[in-house]
Amino acid sequence: MQALQLWMEELWRVPKGDHCKVNQVLYHLGSRGIEYALLPWLKEHQVVMMAYCPLAQAGSLRRELTQNASVKQVARKNGLSEMQVLLAFVLYQENVIAIPKAGKPEHIQENAKMADFKLTEEDYQLLSNAFPAPKNKTYLDIV
Ligand SMILES: NC(=O)c1ccc[n+]([C@@H]2O[C@H](COP(=O)([O-])OP(=O)(O)OC[C@H]3O[C@@H](n4cnc5c(N)ncnc54)[C@H](OP(=O)(O)O)[C@@H]3O)[C@@H](O)[C@H]2O)c1
Repeated sequence: MQALQLWMEELWRVPKGDHCKVNQVLYHLGSRGIEYALLPWLKEHQVVMMAYCPLAQAGSLRRELTQNASVKQVARKNGLSEMQVLLAFVLYQENVIAIPKAGKPEHIQENAKMADFKLTEEDYQLLSNAFPAPKNKTYLDIV
């Protein structure tokens, strides 16, 4: 976390460093380390955060995600798949975009639908409580 943030601070100091418009980092419901400091920093400096692996590689990066009762409840309530719920979670945040990878046409269509969907605050909180953001700096996950 510290290294990434220091790197961003350094970037800001080089000529035209503030032309940086997007930072791509790993982010999904089961990996929320960036929310502690990096995400607010990016928002403050108007750098968009692009979430890679927003579906936790179809849940394989954190197996309990797709089996989680809150994820399933939000999916059932909104007529979504668990993967769509994971995508909706990252897109709920202001200043966040996502690059889910999908090879299957049906997956691409499912994911594209989430561009017009926003979780309610209640559903967001349910998910957030199931997989809370860290309350202090943590090492950031990478793949
Ligand atoms: N900057 C970096 O260091 C970095 C590192 C890793 C990845 N990335 C980028 O991030 C992007 C995504 O990463 P990723 O592929 O590792 O993880 P991901 O997007 O979290 O997961 C992709 C997996 O989810 C499946 N999937 C997609 N949509 C689905 C849906 N609606 N229902 C069920 N399964 C679904 C895909 O299956 P199918 O393919 O079968 O549809 C694939 O197995 C890629 O574009 C990659 O290049 C960047």
